[in-house]
Amino acid sequence: MTNLVSIILAAGEGTRMKSTLPKVLHQICGQPMLLYVLKAVLSAGCRKNYLVVGHKGKSVIEALRNFLPLKKKGIEFVKQNKLLGSGHAVLQVKKNLKGYRGNVLVVYGDLPLLTAGTVNRLVQAHYKQDNSLTILGATLEDPSGYGRIIEKGNGKEIRIVEERDATPDERRINTVNAGVYCFRAEDLFKAIDKIRPDNRKKEYYLTDTVKILRDMGKKVRMVTTKDSSEVEGVNNRKQLVSVQKYVNMKNLERLLLAGVTIVDPSSTFVDSTVKIGRDTVIYPGSTILGKTKIGENCKLGPHAFIENCQIEKGVEVRASFIYGAKIAERAKVGPFSHIRPGTFVGEGVRVGNFCEVKKSRIGKGTKVSHLSYIGDAFLGKGVNIGAGTITCNFDGVRKNITRIGDNTFVGSDAKFIAPVKIGKGAVIGAGSTITEDVPPGKLAIARARQVIKDRKKKKKIKR
Ligand code: UD1
Ligand code: CA
Repeated sequence: MTNLVSIILAAGEGTRMKSTLPKVLHQICGQPMLLYVLKAVLSAGCRKNYLVVGHKGKSVIEALRNFLPLKKKGIEFVKQNKLLGSGHAVLQVKKNLKGYRGNVLVVYGDLPLLTAGTVNRLVQAHYKQDNSLTILGATLEDPSGYGRIIEKGNGKEIRIVEERDATPDERRINTVNAGVYCFRAEDLFKAIDKIRPDNRKKEYYLTDTVKILRDMGKKVRMVTTKDSSEVEGVNNRKQLVSVQKYVNMKNLERLLLAGVTIVDPSSTFVDSTVKIGRDTVIYPGSTILGKTKIGENCKLGPHAFIENCQIEKGVEVRASFIYGAKIAERAKVGPFSHIRPGTFVGEGVRVGNFCEVKKSRIGKGTKVSHLSYIGDAFLGKGVNIGAGTITCNFDGVRKNITRIGDNTFVGSDAKFIAPVKIGKGAVIGAGSTITEDVPPGKLAIARARQVIKDRKKKKKIKR
């Protein structure tokens, strides 16, 4: 049991995002920004983590549940009903910490680039220096938007001034408040009681505790980040995109070092949740999202869009969209294929240009090479589907199933009016409209017989 608990602030609306989604749920490479912060905080091994929620609190809790076993991680929710500022948010946890004598790590929920290393460095410094409060500072080339840390005489005088309350001189200071603090618990709540909303925003600023504690004669010190990009707070979408770019680049670097070739990182997007095997090559313009897992030796792109898929080794995907599908070894998809959820593309299968496959199973070695729609279908092994084949699955009410047995040859431009079943080794004549089951090994031709007629001689019409 450590002598540390954490408070993470995630109650704000995020007005500057101009969104119906609470700010902390905006995604960065496939995960809500709050999750990144939580992971960094959890690394500190707190005995409890209090997450302060307010604006759309229920949806914040629900979203996190999809990513983390909350109870197991010691995460507890505390409600802030009125959003009266960061100091007021921390105050909501006071009742939970009654009688607690340890330390409190406070972190804002909109700092997705914060690392575990920095959190731990701050906590260690706090213990080692036996501080009442340790704050995280960073030096930024452009400090605009952040609270500035004003420090003189190695902590003799220290306070934070918000940009909108700062004098022009204070605004020139480029040491900023990151939004990460470690407090001695009893000092924290004594100081919070003294915060007054006497600022431009009329809010209870947590940052005021710095001066309050210093004035009480307490020891307040600052730790600075090694990499200032870590403290980038996300308040608007411009910052969201900038942070996402950074996280994406980190994801790509991790993959490059793990043996994946990414031909053009600047045009490649990979979510933090994606796994990719060695010797896979990703060509420019590709996007790989969600819980996708990709095997070794694949060739993806140019322009592959893959979301929530399982792709086995040696698969090729060119200029195609694939969602929620499983693609087995050495299958080739594209260019210009659209593979929709619930599809299984078997080993060595080829799904070629301008084909759409929905909720279907395609057996080993089958070819769907050109211009086809395969929906709610089971295709066996070694089937050849001719160009322009359509499974007519929808009768206006229900989706119906087409079954095509192993080694069937389907001529071009066939239509299967589902439900329909084609036996193994059957041959379907080109241009057929198949409305009834075809027994194994038989030839079915279902099209109007061609007629040849004599042409009448045309008389010239005189005008
Ligand atoms: C805050 C700091 C600023 C610092 C910056 C770092 C204050 C007063 N200012 O400014 O010094 O440089 O972060 O990014 O703290 N929140 C609540 N309840 C509230 C208000 C806020 O939970 O009533 C949460 C928000 O959800 C957010 C965090 O507190 O996660 C910070 O709030 P935000 O409005 O983003 O503060 P900044 O203006 O960025
Ligand atoms: Ca912020």
